[in-house]
Amino acid sequence: MHNVDIDLIEMSLDITKQTINRLTQSNPHLGLAESEEKLKKKVGETITPHGIGGEKALKIWRNILSKNIMSMDHPRHLAFISAAPTKAAVMFDLVTAASSIHGSYWLLGAGGIFAENQAMEWMVKLTGLPEGAFGVFTAGGTSANLSAIVTARESWRMNNPENNNKKGIILASSESHSSIESMAKVIDAELRLVPIEEKLTSDLIEKTIATYSEEDRDRIFCVVATAGTTNAGIIDDLEGVATVCQKYNWWMHVDAAYGGGALLADTVRHLFNGIEKSDSITIDPHKWLFSPYDCGAIIYKNPELAKEVHKQEASYLDIFKETEANGFNPSDYQLQLTRRVRGLPLWFSLAMHGTNRYKEAIEWDIKLAEIAAEKIRSNPNLELVREPSLSVVLFKRKGWTPEDYKNWTFRNLEKGLALITPTKWRINGVRETVIRFCFINPDATEEDIDLILETLEN
Ligand SMILES: Cc1ncc(COP(=O)(O)O)c(C=O)c1O
Repeated sequence: MHNVDIDLIEMSLDITKQTINRLTQSNPHLGLAESEEKLKKKVGETITPHGIGGEKALKIWRNILSKNIMSMDHPRHLAFISAAPTKAAVMFDLVTAASSIHGSYWLLGAGGIFAENQAMEWMVKLTGLPEGAFGVFTAGGTSANLSAIVTARESWRMNNPENNNKKGIILASSESHSSIESMAKVIDAELRLVPIEEKLTSDLIEKTIATYSEEDRDRIFCVVATAGTTNAGIIDDLEGVATVCQKYNWWMHVDAAYGGGALLADTVRHLFNGIEKSDSITIDPHKWLFSPYDCGAIIYKNPELAKEVHKQEASYLDIFKETEANGFNPSDYQLQLTRRVRGLPLWFSLAMHGTNRYKEAIEWDIKLAEIAAEKIRSNPNLELVREPSLSVVLFKRKGWTPEDYKNWTFRNLEKGLALITPTKWRINGVRETVIRFCFINPDATEEDIDLILETLEN
């Protein structure tokens, strides 16, 4: 190997070490996002006919660009759905990248696919789906949801060729994730939202479809239930949704992209009852299973059906059919042909730490939400607007306008203290601006909550 390659490896490892050690510092860096214009001024032109050299490019990365990134795993980043990959998973992501594994077909990536599948078997067991259920790792929840609804729509059409000429309808709740609407557009299906205050239930679905024409009812092929809504952490009535889906022979998809990690938590596992009756489930390890980006997963009750829908046919790919008996070809079950073995970091971290550590971490996040709720209840300036669900807490700062919430968010950011963004929630029938905490990082502490609540005093 040339010396320059060794230097590059050392410099890259050095930067990685600094990056993953930031959380052990007493005052970890939250990050920032300067304007494109400012960055252009600082960085200059990096893509040139002769190259600027690895050392210079790495310096630019280390000194300028890497500072312009928000730390998703900062313990006081409680906005959106943050992330908290384990150090083991982050380091093994480096190994995964350096190994350059083609994770599409067993023939090309058997060792990597074998390891991914061990992690997948564990995830499938958590869902309680019957024997034979299996899944694959995807680029995230959006592509997992897309892989599922394409399978649902195609199986609806395979069951009755008359459906080939019909635009199918997907039912989901008004609190379902925006990716459902986007992916319905991708497959040219119609999305009908069932308005909900809290959970999607069988009664609400029945009441909604009672208002539809017979022709519209006939076009419904799938219900998407959410197990952990992004905004409030609510888990739909999965038993009830399963009952209606069985009654009308609809596909039941559960979007547990965020909530899926909580299948591990004994304190809330009962809320997921009914998930084992679904046809497909999305779980994002890059959300609450402590994996680095990007890693989603789609699990099917009947993977053979998904294979019939997703497998790609080409004469140059025929050879993989010959080797099919030897192992599993992940490309057959989701959208992507060439794919990285993005489940490998999860596998390594699970293998290293054991599943109990994962369970404890998720229980702690749920506990943090309860601790925060208790502090909010006892603070006269604050009002808890609903009981916490999973690791999400919604509350109001009494007397604040939407502008006040926005200014507070940016003040915390400027101070490098926290990233917490407002959202909207119905209070007495009116959608109001509220503060939303979502705990993902098990390194967050009660002191972190106190520091944040102090900023709401005046
Ligand atoms: C419930 C739910 N579904 C789907 C998604 C989309 O997942 P991704 O961003 O991994 O595509 C999210 C993202 O926050 C989510 O919370």
